[in-house]
Amino acid sequence: MTEQLKMDKVQPHLLDETGQGAITKPMERPEGPLKVSGTATYAAEYNLPNMAEGFMVRAGISKGTYTIDESSVKGMPGFLGVYTDKMPRNSAQGTAGTNPIQPGDKISYLGQPIAVVVAETLEQARDIAKALKVDYTTDDDVKAVFEDATFEEQDGTVDQGDLDQAMSDAAFSVDATFTTASHNSAAMEPHAAVAEWEGDKVTVRGSLQMLNYNKQELADSLGIDVKNVRLLAPYIGGGFGSKLGIDVSCIAAAVAAKQLGRPVRVVLHRNHVFEMIVERTETKQRVRLAADKDGTLTGIGHDDWQSNLPEEGLAEPVSIATHFLYGGENRKIAQNLGVLNRPASGSVRAPGEAVGMLALENAMDELAEAVGIDPIELRIKNIPEKHPENGKPFSSRALEDALRQGADAFGWSERKEPKQRREGEWYIGMGVASSARTNILMESRALVTLNPDGTALVQTDMTDIGTGTYAILGQIAAEMLGIPTEKVTVQLGDTDLPEGPGSGGSWGASSAGSAVFLGAKGIRKKLADRLGCSVDDLRLQDGVATGGNNRRPLAELMDGPMVEEGHLKPGDTAEDFHQAGYGAHFAEVAVNSVTGEVRVRRMLAAMAAGRILNEKTAQSQVWGGQIWGIGTALHEAIEHDHRTGHVVNNDLAEYHIPVNLDVGDLEVLFVEERDDHANPMQTKGIGELGLAGAGAAITNAIYNACGVRIRDYPATPDRIFPHLD
Ligand code: MOS
Repeated sequence: MTEQLKMDKVQPHLLDETGQGAITKPMERPEGPLKVSGTATYAAEYNLPNMAEGFMVRAGISKGTYTIDESSVKGMPGFLGVYTDKMPRNSAQGTAGTNPIQPGDKISYLGQPIAVVVAETLEQARDIAKALKVDYTTDDDVKAVFEDATFEEQDGTVDQGDLDQAMSDAAFSVDATFTTASHNSAAMEPHAAVAEWEGDKVTVRGSLQMLNYNKQELADSLGIDVKNVRLLAPYIGGGFGSKLGIDVSCIAAAVAAKQLGRPVRVVLHRNHVFEMIVERTETKQRVRLAADKDGTLTGIGHDDWQSNLPEEGLAEPVSIATHFLYGGENRKIAQNLGVLNRPASGSVRAPGEAVGMLALENAMDELAEAVGIDPIELRIKNIPEKHPENGKPFSSRALEDALRQGADAFGWSERKEPKQRREGEWYIGMGVASSARTNILMESRALVTLNPDGTALVQTDMTDIGTGTYAILGQIAAEMLGIPTEKVTVQLGDTDLPEGPGSGGSWGASSAGSAVFLGAKGIRKKLADRLGCSVDDLRLQDGVATGGNNRRPLAELMDGPMVEEGHLKPGDTAEDFHQAGYGAHFAEVAVNSVTGEVRVRRMLAAMAAGRILNEKTAQSQVWGGQIWGIGTALHEAIEHDHRTGHVVNNDLAEYHIPVNLDVGDLEVLFVEERDDHANPMQTKGIGELGLAGAGAAITNAIYNACGVRIRDYPATPDRIFPHLD
């Protein structure tokens, strides 16, 4: 049976009534021991009998065509084959559901996958890939520098009122241009696949975030029926957007395994990940703010410029939060996309907010200073009553609470004017930024089974990319069924299981969780029937059902397993209300007055994301966001060769993500909130919220410390020390 809900109206707060106490509890991740003991098997760790090893070959030119000379390597030790069939140009974009572009012999960027070499061992395959002769025809019209791209305005421009007029009438205004660097997702586990065919059916073990879309993308790439594709991804070592779409390792392994008649493994090495997998676009952003004499916004403008490969189309929604975060009648928000010969641009954690809010929240800091009011007061003053562009009400919006509670906990009242706090050769300063991330609900299914012995099983093709899916889905089932969390087994990452929403866009917990909630709700109805009470009277706790003056252990109510599918669909509440999570980021930094080096001493995030399902995994997500904020503010930048577009710093030695010593004290507090319009659990996404705005709090703190405004990210010492006096 299926318990279905289309989220058309507000649902009762059932999770505030149940009494098991499993929800919100900071439960440990149940798969943790498997991971730390090396027994959680990742895609590259499956050793199938008779398996051959593949190694990707990269294009050595930026633009042109190529042919492979197979005779150059035939006869080398271990040689089994070189395959170019169905080779994708780059990984699929998130939720594409169709194959990534198969360019044939055409090369659009340096590092593009052009072939896979297969041999008996990895070392042999790598050696053959190096020796393989590739003949190129070169097209010299390479555009590798951002400034050389021809930009086209994208659909969706908002032009409301008259921003130019508002700017010239403003008592105070800011008109500032910012730049942000290209970013890599830098998941610890590189992309990898093991493919095996049985007749017409292929099974691929991959490292993927969204199996429901990925199976369609792989089927489309191979030209086979989706029924003949099975994907397995029970454990994934981080995604951050880089594993949203099917990647070249899965397609190449499947093609080679078919042609060879043997299982094939393809593991990308770190350089491959940096080139063949989507990166975040570099951006240029112009932010305009117009305010009256007390700091109330009268106008807001946000234009961005970014790039992608030809025909790739995806533009990062850089200004997504600008549309709704602050009021101001006169608005102009536009995006411009240019074409460059560089690795494909795609989703990297908090696509949009991660870089867009750096610009917006720094501009707000500049405006606060111009008006002469506290930056927190400026933000609170400009919180709109309803969506400033489409007039929709907000579902729940605790931005003011987050700013005020965060300020108290952080000790914001100790903040001084710029350059007024010094310890030896270090300037000390504090900064703040708002956080916001659009909340999304996706169609989801999950199967819930309750057994008479008081154990339960949850099954969905949903993934856990390190976020805590195993933990929270188990907690939701335990809470709804009134059994301890240790009694619930959660099975994920297999396309034979009901279709979940995938991990991405911070919608996983709310969407997959609601499907589990509904499946368990269906079981509650059956149990109420058996007990002879209304479902509203039913209490389930520690394996005992109570209701209508009856009290019975589950085992006595059941004659076999009870199985229910939960099926959640988004509905009217997603259309009628604007939904987003909100928060406030605070940072205290020290800036060295001689070298311009920045150290983040401490950060605090106050997050309002509806009901929190697990305080530990949610906190970990926010920590990750704060740390990523340090990376975007201070270190992370993909450097492209100006002549060829080549990713020069294509490994984790040269692409600087924060290490432990870069990270000061991190504190997270959750603002008590329920979002009635989000889903039946009243939750909102939190993963990417933790990053949105985090870097801006750091650069605003840099200004407060030493008086240097950062408009070009990252804020490396060379961008600070020339301006120190
Ligand atoms: Mo996230 S970039 O949607 O995995």
